[in-house]
Parts: sequence; structure tokens; C-alpha cells
Amino acid sequence: MSAPILTSRQLLEAVPQRHSVRAYEPRAIEPDKVEALQALVERCNAEGNLKIQLFLDEPRAFSSPMAHYGQFSNVNNYFALVGDKARDLDERVGYHGERLVLAARALGLDTCWVGLTYSRRRSPVKLAAGERMPSVIALGYGTGKYRAHKIKTFEQVSRVAGEVPAWFKRGVECALLAPTAINQQKFTFILHDDDVVEARAGLGFLAHIDLGIVKLHFELAAAPHPFKWFDRL
Ligand SMILES: Cc1cc2nc3c(=O)[nH]c(=O)nc-3n(C[C@H](O)[C@H](O)[C@H](O)COP(=O)(O)O)c2cc1C
Repeated sequence: MSAPILTSRQLLEAVPQRHSVRAYEPRAIEPDKVEALQALVERCNAEGNLKIQLFLDEPRAFSSPMAHYGQFSNVNNYFALVGDKARDLDERVGYHGERLVLAARALGLDTCWVGLTYSRRRSPVKLAAGERMPSVIALGYGTGKYRAHKIKTFEQVSRVAGEVPAWFKRGVECALLAPTAINQQKFTFILHDDDVVEARAGLGFLAHIDLGIVKLHFELAAAPHPFKWFDRL
């Protein structure tokens, strides 16, 4: 029997429990959790046209001075977020990578998105011609330490003419709990007529990965309201 995939409700419940964790215990992940994450990797790859790979017991990507500078320790597992070069690759990586982040949290594991402070050269990931790896996600049992950070307000990241519907507010507030590169939160959600929602990336570093991440958070919390994304019309 294949491992059950976590439900959207389980992913939503994991949102407030998630923090970026950079220091891990040197402890292996149990086979049943690995199986559940592998099943989700396969689903993300199929649905997002991606080539995500889970590396276990592989310390080299986080053994460089750069990783120590980024305060990473004992990172032995990570998701390599790989896909064919395309205009929307970063957004798809963000959306599906965050599914893995929330699933990991629901399974009691910690994560950290890492766009910069790891070594691509030391990692065994092989990219074929035409492929890119916009980011990786560190995975494991955290030591319990994480940094709290400021979050923007609903008003700073949204635009609505008139009354704010409850589903839209839920979606934006869940997006404000999402990880973003250097905690920039440079996204905007705009509510148009007929429940059409436009999510705009800012101009920041890795902002289109952030966009995919916050769109997943918005969808999880706005459900079951049947809104439509502006860019999918
Ligand atoms: C696309 C992306 C890339 C990131 N890259 C790094 C990184 O290279 N090094 C690092 O320490 N943290 C990195 N982070 C983690 C952010 O700093 C973190 O999500 C943010 O400060 C908010 O904190 P939180 O995730 O605990 O809510 C990255 C996050 C995202 C979404």
C-alpha cells in the first residue's frame, strides 16, 4: 500500500507551527516519514512538472563555510528543488516546495528554505542541460532554536475596494505566516470583482519563489471559498 498523502487541513494546521530551523539534531528520519515525504515529492513533481529529489544522510551541501556563515549545523537531509528552465519555474518551486515544508511540519519535522547559504558545488545533485535548481530545503529534527521575526500587517500587503470578505482575510493572514527570502514579504494580494484574486510578486531577491509559497498559504486558508487566480484566467 502506498503512503497516505497529508490532507490540506493537516497542511493548514502546520502553518502556525512552522519556523525556519537552521540547527538540527544528528538523528535519522524514520522510514514511515521518509515514505510519506517521498510520496508527496512524486505528487509535486507530477502536478508541478518538477524534478524534486530528497537527499538523506548527505552532509556535503551544508558543509561549506557559507553554510556555517548562515548558521546551519547538522543539515544531513534536504530537498533539491530542480526543474526545467521556464519563466514560471520559481513560482512552481515555491508552491510545491512549501507543500513539502508544511507536510514535514505535520510529521513533526523542521525545515528551512535555503536559496543562498549552501554549496551547490559540493552537493551530489547533477543538473542536466536545461535544468535549474532555484533553491533547496533543509530537513530534519531541529534543536528547538529558531529566530522570531516581524510580520507585516494585512493592510501593508493587500488591496481591496470596499468590504473585506472573510475568506480573503484568512488567505492573506495565512500568507503573512509564510517563509519569504530574508523575510522580505514583498508580495501583494489584490481582490478584483467576481472573487478573482491577483497575487503580485515584489521586486526582491527570489521574489517569485516567495510568490508560489504565499499563494499556497492563501489557497489553504481561503478554502473552501471558490475564488479564482487572476493569472489563470
Ligand atoms: C526562497 C527563500 C530562500 C531563503 N534562503 C535562505 C538562506 O539562504 N539562508 C537562510 O538562513 N535562510 C533562508 N531563508 C529563510 C528566511 O530567512 C525565513 O523564511 C524568514 O526569515 C522568515 O522566517 P520564518 O521562516 O522562521 O518564518 C529563505 C527563505 C525563502 C522563502
